[in-house]
Amino acid sequence: MQATATSSSSSNATLQTSKNILLGVTGGIAAYKSAYLVRRLKDAGFAVRVVMTAGAQAFVTPLTFQALSGEPVHTSLLDPEAEAGMGHIELARWADLVLVAPASANAISRITAGAADDLLTTVILATAAPVFISPAMNQQMWQNQITQRNLQTLRDYQFHVIAPDSGSQACGDVGEGRMPEPEDLVAIVQSHFQGQAPTTSKTNQILKGKHVVITAGPTREALDPVRYVSNHSSGKMGFALAEACRDAGARVTLLAGPVSLPTPTGVERINIVSARDLLAVSDKIVDAGCDVFIATAAVADYRAEHIADQKIKKQGDSLTLTLVKNPDIVATIAKHAKRPFMVGFAAETQRMEEYARGKLETKQLDMIACNDVSRGDIGFASDDNAMTVFFSDRFGLEKVILDKASKKEIAARLVECLVHAGA
Ligand code: C5P
Repeated sequence: MQATATSSSSSNATLQTSKNILLGVTGGIAAYKSAYLVRRLKDAGFAVRVVMTAGAQAFVTPLTFQALSGEPVHTSLLDPEAEAGMGHIELARWADLVLVAPASANAISRITAGAADDLLTTVILATAAPVFISPAMNQQMWQNQITQRNLQTLRDYQFHVIAPDSGSQACGDVGEGRMPEPEDLVAIVQSHFQGQAPTTSKTNQILKGKHVVITAGPTREALDPVRYVSNHSSGKMGFALAEACRDAGARVTLLAGPVSLPTPTGVERINIVSARDLLAVSDKIVDAGCDVFIATAAVADYRAEHIADQKIKKQGDSLTLTLVKNPDIVATIAKHAKRPFMVGFAAETQRMEEYARGKLETKQLDMIACNDVSRGDIGFASDDNAMTVFFSDRFGLEKVILDKASKKEIAARLVECLVHAGA
């Protein structure tokens, strides 16, 4: 996944009121980028103080940050220089925003555990300011379920987790886990104080003023208290679309099934489990009013007729389960009195155009994006996709072929398609 925002434009580079940013630097090679980050934060009009962990000092010296911030750098929990000997409380109160960049996997796990055994973790526990975490680590460490679970816990505690960039890493690997460029982090901090979702100055704001709702990931249909029926949907396409819509200026609500993906900054995420949960939440949001509904979720077609109260015991050689059909979310919302512009997805292994057009009609959609899942190199868990987009006949639009590209690029093109159809 890419950075959540790109360079700030020079017009919004300086804030009218100076805000205090406490920058926490932890032990990772990306710490060298944080030196430049201090410069850029100061250029943008922020007052910056730096707290370094012991690990960070192995990569960059406190003197570097002192020279760049113009302030003493704080490294020790027990600081006799601090007024009343309580440096952590003074710093926690001083900060209008805490940014941990880079946040190593170790720092993330210690913050998640509520550790207070060094200055940074203690300040984070003691502050009432919003805390932004910019994870930076090896791609395998990033993907590790433990890291992802820690980050989800932090999100649940209202921390802001900034999606890392992907690309080549200092360790020689290629993948997600790079700290975003300092300019991107400054843009995210600025957006926070301006009360906006981070936007990019590079993209057109073609969805400005629109509220887009996106369903993503699989649903889980319980069989008993410990088992469920589900599928392998990764949610990547829906999350990429959430970022693309946000970058196009929309307010985005992401209804996410159980996936281990970080919430894109500036996007409202509501976690759902079953198809019926998803329908109930969708219905409520559409009732309140939204402009576009994009259904990328791989909703389980069937659920157990009865969910067993107790764990189903192993008995004979076979087990018969009765499954009943789940509601079709997108088709139900398309019949809603406050029907938004409706976008569906289809995955087909054959006769793609015929089946996609059939779904467009039966589900009463405005647009459908279809991929050929017989190709092993795209779709589901892959980072790439290729699609053909069909529109309802009433628009009189030709189909659009989107050649194989990253899900991020495909998402940006899909946003153009829906605007093209008048969403
Ligand atoms: O019927 P099929 O599953 O192929 O249709 C795919 C489209 O319908 C996707 O947009 C998917 O999110 C949506 N869908 C839904 N609710 C279901 C099944 C599919 O919203 N129960």
